[in-house]
Amino acid sequence: MLREVNSTIALVTGASHGIGLEVVRQLASTGMTVILSARSLEKAIKAAEPLLESGYPVHAKALDVSSDASVEELAEAIKLEFGRLDVLVNNAAAFADWTETASNANLEAVKAVMETNLFGAWRTTQAMLPLLRQSAHGRIVNVSSGGGSHGDLQFGLTTNGGTVASYGISKAALNALTAKFAAELADSPILVNAICPGLTATAPGMEAMGARPVAEGAASVVWGATLPDDGPTGGFFRDGQRLPW
Ligand SMILES: NC(=O)c1ccc[n+]([C@@H]2O[C@H](COP(=O)([O-])OP(=O)(O)OC[C@H]3O[C@@H](n4cnc5c(N)ncnc54)[C@H](OP(=O)(O)O)[C@@H]3O)[C@@H](O)[C@H]2O)c1
Repeated sequence: MLREVNSTIALVTGASHGIGLEVVRQLASTGMTVILSARSLEKAIKAAEPLLESGYPVHAKALDVSSDASVEELAEAIKLEFGRLDVLVNNAAAFADWTETASNANLEAVKAVMETNLFGAWRTTQAMLPLLRQSAHGRIVNVSSGGGSHGDLQFGLTTNGGTVASYGISKAALNALTAKFAAELADSPILVNAICPGLTATAPGMEAMGARPVAEGAASVVWGATLPDDGPTGGFFRDGQRLPW
């Protein structure tokens, strides 16, 4: 049954932990109604519990971005329940072996990374676009990485002997997808941006590598999800600052 929701409605993918979960918390704390999605519904429900206890309007849903059926099912459920979507945060990501280079990469592993990081965001955006078009203030945030940038001198495409190959290539492709959707939607109210959270401590030992707290990485993403109507589109940002492609 269609709910009357006056607040902004957001969907975050891959949100049972890490940056995605914190993005859900921060968006909900601004008053948004947030759909917390994860591959496993059980994980989504468990992650949503403490947020619901804190009074945040969070809805747990299953979403595997690598599956057409799963994405279509959620789009249909959002249509029936809410009738529109205002914010889509494509956060879900897969990683391969960090020592992987272009020459030693197992192409099946590469395809799996692309299936989530590029096609997952693409598939989800296509499915949610009719719902985003029902919004007067649509926002699409593709959570990207300096690893996919030519200009990032620490983790970018031309650094570290070419390691983390498929991940970097997938994020460069996601940046290109961002530019294409933004160009296509330029005459609509929907703003589309790629946002890097920066090196963020979502796994044990990452602080020692200089990673910042999850709340800071998530805030970088939330900036793109809460842009004003005259905000930028088709850009690549971290902490509200433009990054080189
Ligand atoms: N942490 C950093 O330093 C950093 C830096 C730059 C960019 N980023 C980007 O920030 C985003 C979040 O990163 P993170 O560090 O929070 O990563 P993370 O902890 O590994 O979280 C990634 C999430 O994506 C989900 N996921 C993977 N495949 C999926 C699929 N097919 N369908 C739906 N969900 C799927 C995972 O779910 P499961 O639990 O089911 O596996 C997990 O919840 C990613 O896009 C990442 O590339 C992170």
